[in-house]
Amino acid sequence: MGLTMMDLMEAMKERRSTRAFLEKTVARETLEDLLHLATQAPSAINLQPWELTIVSGEEKKRLSRVLVKRMKERNISCGPGAKKPLSEAFMERQRGLLNTIQPHLPEDTVFQNFINEGSCNFYGAPTAVIISMDQVFSSARLTDIGVLVGYLVLAAHGLGLSTCPIGLITAFDEDIKEELNISDEKQVVIGVAVGYGDPDAPINRGRSERVPLQDVVKWRQ
Ligand SMILES: Cc1cc2nc3c(=O)[nH]c(=O)nc-3n(C[C@H](O)[C@H](O)[C@H](O)COP(=O)(O)O)c2cc1C
Repeated sequence: MGLTMMDLMEAMKERRSTRAFLEKTVARETLEDLLHLATQAPSAINLQPWELTIVSGEEKKRLSRVLVKRMKERNISCGPGAKKPLSEAFMERQRGLLNTIQPHLPEDTVFQNFINEGSCNFYGAPTAVIISMDQVFSSARLTDIGVLVGYLVLAAHGLGLSTCPIGLITAFDEDIKEELNISDEKQVVIGVAVGYGDPDAPINRGRSERVPLQDVVKWRQ
């Protein structure tokens, strides 16, 4: 193990979310390597406010079945979580993702259904990492969880694994805590699907793009 600087830069450029996985199990040792790397993430006052629940095997399948069922019962759908309608610039980015994914879906598959059901199923990945945080913390500490997720997805890429962060599962906070015996004092912040990407799946061919730097960077001097 051990990433060189160059590997890291390559990982940052290459990594993309994966939405079709092989059934191949991820070895416990590989998951431990991944978690050791991910938890090197910095956090405010080194609080490390995260708790990670690693769900694999039958337990992961059971969790997915519960989430898919709840999603359908409650009509829950993946969205930007915005307080007001998004501006055109953001809508354009959202459409960009749809245009990246849709062409690789079977013709009779509705994009939103694929995302909703896929997210609840962690896109068939053998392992789901559920990241929770003590509710004693304010939303400021969600930043730390974001940094952790960044480390996790990059480290996974470095280890030959594929990932997809799954924000949708926060809609099932109570269900997940109950199913996985996570303390009621925590909140589920995000999940990450972890496994070996299916190289033959068309859905994994779409590659999201990024806006030019000038759209997101301001220079002052
Ligand atoms: C906080 C967060 C939440 C996300 N939630 C979901 C989700 O619920 N379902 C999903 O399919 N992808 C989800 N994604 C993946 C994004 O759609 C993806 O990162 C984005 O389109 C950029 O593509 P890339 O990861 O391939 O570079 C999420 C990503 C982040 C960072």
